[in-house]
Amino acid sequence: MSDTLEYRLGNDPNLESVIELYRASTLGERRPVDDAERMAAMLKNANLVVTAWDDDLLVGIARSVSDFAFCTYLSDIAVRKSHQCKGIGRELIRRTREESGRATVILLSAPAAVDYYPRLGFFQHSSAWTIEPGAELK
Ligand SMILES: CC(C)(COP(=O)(O)OP(=O)(O)OC[C@H]1O[C@@H](n2cnc3c(N)ncnc32)[C@H](O)[C@@H]1OP(=O)(O)O)[C@@H](O)C(=O)NCCC(=O)NCCS
Repeated sequence: MSDTLEYRLGNDPNLESVIELYRASTLGERRPVDDAERMAAMLKNANLVVTAWDDDLLVGIARSVSDFAFCTYLSDIAVRKSHQCKGIGRELIRRTREESGRATVILLSAPAAVDYYPRLGFFQHSSAWTIEPGAELK
């Protein structure tokens, strides 16, 4: 890893690099990385994307949808395995919050990351609810 990491704002990294990063972080196991069209839409329609770069290697991403006033849904955060536990995830979240203005950052934790968010000061919400596409609305 080089001495200087660079952080960038925007959803313009190319799709192949993003998919490769999802795989290289293990997040790809829980995201539709084999469906390039869906991944392209996820990247294009996200309106708050922070990326971390080690020279020209993409090493981290925080992909959110935000109204920049009330809520920021941080859907995906991923750091390349070779670069984990060096503060990159924390910095991606710090920048996501900085860009979010007064919006609260909301996320669903991956099983392996449940202990990560409380360390950073996240509060566990007991009344979060989801409904999957295709599930019957009763
Ligand atoms: C979870 C993840 C984003 C964290 O990013 P990171 O850059 O590795 O984490 P940081 O370096 O910012 O970690 C900050 C602290 O949390 C700890 N930490 C990192 N990953 C952790 C985890 N999965 N569980 C508990 N603690 C964790 C670090 O050891 C560090 O502690 P320290 O300050 O005492 O040294 C990253 O490990 C990752 O991409 N994991 C795989 C994909 C994934 O599960 N994403 C989450 C989807 S909800």
